[in-house]
Amino acid sequence: MTLWHGRLSGGTADVVMDYSVSIHFDQRLARDDIAGSRAHVRGLGRGGLLTADEVETLLSTLDTVEAELDTGAFAFVPDDEDIHTAVERRVTELAGDVGAKLHTGRSRNDQIATDLRLYAKRELAGLASDILVLQDVLLTRAKDAGDTYLPGYTHLQRAQPVLLAHHLLAHGWALSRDVDRLVATVARLDISPLGAGALAGSSLPLDPDGTAADLGFAGRFENSLDAVSDRDFVAESLFDLALLGVHLSRIGEEIVLWSTEEFGFAVLDDAFATGSSMLPQKKNPDVAELARGKSGRLIGNLTGLLVTLKGLPLAYNRDLQEDKEPLFDSVDQSRLALAAVSGLLATITFDAHRMQEAANGSSVAAVDLAEWLVEQGMPFRQAHSVVGGLVHDSLERHVPLAELVEAHPALGSEAVALLEPGVAVTRRTTPGSAGPAAVAVQLARFVHRLEADRIRVSALG
Ligand code: ARG
Repeated sequence: MTLWHGRLSGGTADVVMDYSVSIHFDQRLARDDIAGSRAHVRGLGRGGLLTADEVETLLSTLDTVEAELDTGAFAFVPDDEDIHTAVERRVTELAGDVGAKLHTGRSRNDQIATDLRLYAKRELAGLASDILVLQDVLLTRAKDAGDTYLPGYTHLQRAQPVLLAHHLLAHGWALSRDVDRLVATVARLDISPLGAGALAGSSLPLDPDGTAADLGFAGRFENSLDAVSDRDFVAESLFDLALLGVHLSRIGEEIVLWSTEEFGFAVLDDAFATGSSMLPQKKNPDVAELARGKSGRLIGNLTGLLVTLKGLPLAYNRDLQEDKEPLFDSVDQSRLALAAVSGLLATITFDAHRMQEAANGSSVAAVDLAEWLVEQGMPFRQAHSVVGGLVHDSLERHVPLAELVEAHPALGSEAVALLEPGVAVTRRTTPGSAGPAAVAVQLARFVHRLEADRIRVSALG
């Protein structure tokens, strides 16, 4: 029997049920739905709409239904269109007449909005702590990297040497912004829609402030129409996860490059690599590639939802049911991605020799020669041109750059010393730069930031 059998007669066409049913995905909101029902029941009790006995009966029935759902004993029936219908149906079966009072003053519209906010609050907090785990891995690897350096690239051309720790922490700071965004999204979504009813509130003495506090929300909605139609929090969550996905994708891309024979900067642990069904020699970076590839899906979930939302009039429209699968998918995929990339980076072996060899080419120190000339009083533009000319001659005439530097009247042996392996990176001394002293400061600041974020994330509950 449908929830609306009083109004519509003759039954719903099977295809309508098939098309509109959401129980196969929204049953994951079961615990949130039951939490919302408990708060609603207590609110109805405070408003005198349920007696104390009725409140007790409904609460203990909700406990039973929750236990059935937890253990898998809950028997879904074909008419259970969504999780709200299923729970109410079962409560009524178990509690009889009093069960029929559960939905007093409530609509599935405020109910689903409440469930989804509870879900998002919990899951985003979980994701933020998963990011902290990955950041910890990056921190450990950065500390272990010591003075190892590699070429820093622009345009994927060798540019200047940077410490490996500096490179790893660059990804760490991007992830800090992801944590920041998730914390801010949780703060904004922390509003209870319960008590908005279908769209306009109620004539009955409901208690939206009380139910909001009961559910642990920071406050209640200001406007009932907005409460049931607002899915900004889903869009924001999807954006946060799409951008996180982009960050993981960029890490993935570098691991793909670094693990090639051409780069040879990193060797994947066997547990985080895959083989080929045909080519016996292959060791493939599939985790890194999936981190890169799945970002497309995360971006798709965001754009799909934005398109769903864009033309909707107030207030609830069934289109909004399309909010859940993308959110669940982005949450699931992000959790998996964070665990996989954390494992990948925790176990990867960096080849310091290959990295440093690649960074020891004399031309990556070219700017150091120019800056040395600046220190001797030469205008930078002129210094740039002098050194650029020497690099050009060295390549044209197949003469080592060091020889030309030595022979140059404005440069000479003191300048040649700058071309020695490992010297250039030590000359990056400005705040936030890629050299050892600056990176030591950065490491301390990163540790500090992680500690502060850990406190912020654990306060999310
Ligand atoms: N399954 C629905 C959803 O996810 C619940 C709300 C249904 N409300 C309605 N008026 N049909 O959006």
